[in-house]
Amino acid sequence: MSANYEVRGAIAVITLDNPPVNGLGFATRKAAAEGIERAEADPAVKAVVITGAGKAFSGGADIREFGSPKAMAEPNLLSLIAVVENCSKPVVAAVHTVCMGGGLELALGCHYRVAAPGAKIALPEVKLGLLPGAGGTQRLPRALGVEPALNMIVSGEPVNSEMLAQVPGQQLFQKIVEGDLLEGAIAYANEVADKRPLPKVRELKARHANPEAFFQFARNMVGGMSRNFPAPLRCLEAVAASVNMKFDEGMKAEREGFAALMMTPESKALRHAFFAERAASKIGDVPDSTPQREIRRVGVIGAGTMGGGISMNFLNAGIPVTILETKQEALDRGVATIKKNYEAQVKKGKLKEDKYQQRMALLSTTLDYAALGDADLIIEAVFEEIGVKEAVFKQLDAVAKPGAILASNTSTLDVDKIASFTKRPQDVVGMHFFSPANVMKLLEVVRGKATAKDVLATVMAIGKKIKKTAVVSGVCDGFIGNRMIEQYSRQAGFLLDEGCSPQQVDKAVEKFGFAMGPFRMGDLAGNDIGWAIRKRRYVEKPGMKYSASADRLCELGRYGQKTGAGWYDYVPGKRDAIPSPVVEEMLAKHRAAIGIQTRQISDEEIVQRLVFALVNEAAHLLEEGIAQRASDVDMVYLTGYGFPLWRGGPMCYADTVGLFNVVQAMKRFAKNPNDDGSFWQPAPLLARLVAEGKSFND
Ligand code: 3HC
Ligand code: NAI
Repeated sequence: MSANYEVRGAIAVITLDNPPVNGLGFATRKAAAEGIERAEADPAVKAVVITGAGKAFSGGADIREFGSPKAMAEPNLLSLIAVVENCSKPVVAAVHTVCMGGGLELALGCHYRVAAPGAKIALPEVKLGLLPGAGGTQRLPRALGVEPALNMIVSGEPVNSEMLAQVPGQQLFQKIVEGDLLEGAIAYANEVADKRPLPKVRELKARHANPEAFFQFARNMVGGMSRNFPAPLRCLEAVAASVNMKFDEGMKAEREGFAALMMTPESKALRHAFFAERAASKIGDVPDSTPQREIRRVGVIGAGTMGGGISMNFLNAGIPVTILETKQEALDRGVATIKKNYEAQVKKGKLKEDKYQQRMALLSTTLDYAALGDADLIIEAVFEEIGVKEAVFKQLDAVAKPGAILASNTSTLDVDKIASFTKRPQDVVGMHFFSPANVMKLLEVVRGKATAKDVLATVMAIGKKIKKTAVVSGVCDGFIGNRMIEQYSRQAGFLLDEGCSPQQVDKAVEKFGFAMGPFRMGDLAGNDIGWAIRKRRYVEKPGMKYSASADRLCELGRYGQKTGAGWYDYVPGKRDAIPSPVVEEMLAKHRAAIGIQTRQISDEEIVQRLVFALVNEAAHLLEEGIAQRASDVDMVYLTGYGFPLWRGGPMCYADTVGLFNVVQAMKRFAKNPNDDGSFWQPAPLLARLVAEGKSFND
């Protein structure tokens, strides 16, 4: 049973009960419809209240059922809503906490709706690449008004119940109930029990004074803002149908739009990302019930680029931070940068002055390790040198209280080695933030061999609290994201050797949807960083082949935007990347020196070589257990590396192309003159999946 039925006086109460959020899966729909039938059949019942158990009225259709026969099994959502709407006794929705998607559509099928204050009301289907498919686009404009309904449907953003109740002329909520919602709803149901006719939202009119001009304006706005995403415009057309068509015709138009969107790769990718984000928060051998350590105070070592951004995350979440540095000037510089960042937000109206002051009041600084004695979590973000890390962790070991979590933000060093500098390796973990750390969503949580389970559980939870997408990685050079990007960068270099220009590669990759191509990215981050890494690699891994073009570039002093020149030329004060004749000449000389016959390379080949390089390395990471699941890799790339969201991440993209086709392409690429025979060797996992006809998602 996933909806409960009880009778209180003359009122039947149907309580949706399908944890965690009362998704309207088959069993819940069936039980709810049966509840209405029972109420119809019971002469003692005069009205019905529908509500939800636990932490939601309903989060909507059960998205776990999408694509399965259960999703449409009768009673499907439309049939359930029809049963409710056609009930001969008044049905009152008692809405609380979360009322979204199909949940709101069900409520709109009821004759009356009462709500608790603060309930989050939304039609978020657009975020899954869909439109509300059970009458939401037809009923919400009728109940709330065309303009506010369009905003909600196209944005998918939740709005508080009491704000909606204040919209002039609205008929969405008849009452906001302060205090006990169920008692209030039952009282309301008793009040309206004998009223006839029963009001139905479908019988209202969706009106706008000047619909043609309004929808044309909205079309231009929405079209401009939602490139690559088909759903927002289809949402808009469905809402337009609520004004231009009769209710049943509008429902038909909505249905067609919903079915068409469900099949789009964009919706599949968005739904994949939704589940991938939730899956990433789970660790195979660390159950949800693992106790967590309490994090009340945070220490940050180093007030540089990363230390400042990391501190802001905790200040934003209301957690006090103490930053430690070796010199007062460094502290002053770090605090000034934090202030500058906040002040820019205040100026743009994104942060209120009093909030800014509250956050700054939570920040303290110190030159003395003793001040970190009461910190529950200490994150180190000092220079990337193992000797410096050793000194820091030895001092932390001496002062940190028992049970404090000691984290390193290292991007390349061995977290196990760092843990070994302490007598408490079980408390040491990697927290790899991405720059700018106060903005980027990704947090790689690096699990050392000794890291305790409660440390992992705590760090994953704190990651959510500071609004990051935390993904677990094992210890290896580069962790998940940077180890993969190295193969991508190597391919980008080989493409230059074979005849591409930096701008051709960047354009192809940006057309595919990456925020920035590899060469523009190199110029932004500084080409000298990659140069330093390659110099180390030449010693550590002499067999690994790289294009030397990037070394030639750095030898010219062209480090990127910071030196005014890199793969592109730059005009002082501007960031526009201008194709460079110097680079063209350098590349021509380089190609002549290595004796490669250049050729025309298609944009498709460029994209596939770069993306499949990521995919093959990720397959190695999965096999080695560094990444837990393919969808975790997708989250890393969606939230940390600008991979296009509508493609769902590299692994989802590879599944869409088909792994057989991926491996076929890799075999073709292996014939390139520049390949050393090893690069395109399919990872054993990839080869196995192809042999078994499976995908990463399997
Ligand atoms: N169906 C099934 N499971 C759902 C769900 C849904 N609609 N919404 C959330 N869940 C699950 C999550 O997968 C997660 O499960 P897990 O613990 O096993 O990983 C659990 O609920 C908790 O989710 P969150 O971690 O996101 O919890 P929060 O408390 O932060 O947020 C929420 C709750 C606001 C409901 C948020 O989960 C959310 O936005 N969900 C999506 C709602 C949505 O998109 N609804 C529309 C569905 S499509 C639809 O209704 C089609 C219709 O128009 C025909
Ligand atoms: P940075 O050079 O901007 O800042 C380092 C700060 O540490 C400086 O302010 C310095 O004074 C301070 N410091 C050095 N030794 C110290 C010590 N013994 N005690 C206290 N403070 C000390 O460096 P950045 O970029 O912030 O990097 C810090 C760490 O974060 C490194 O491990 C780096 O690999 C990692 N990282 C950097 C990223 C980036 O994009 N910059 C991204 C992800 C991780």
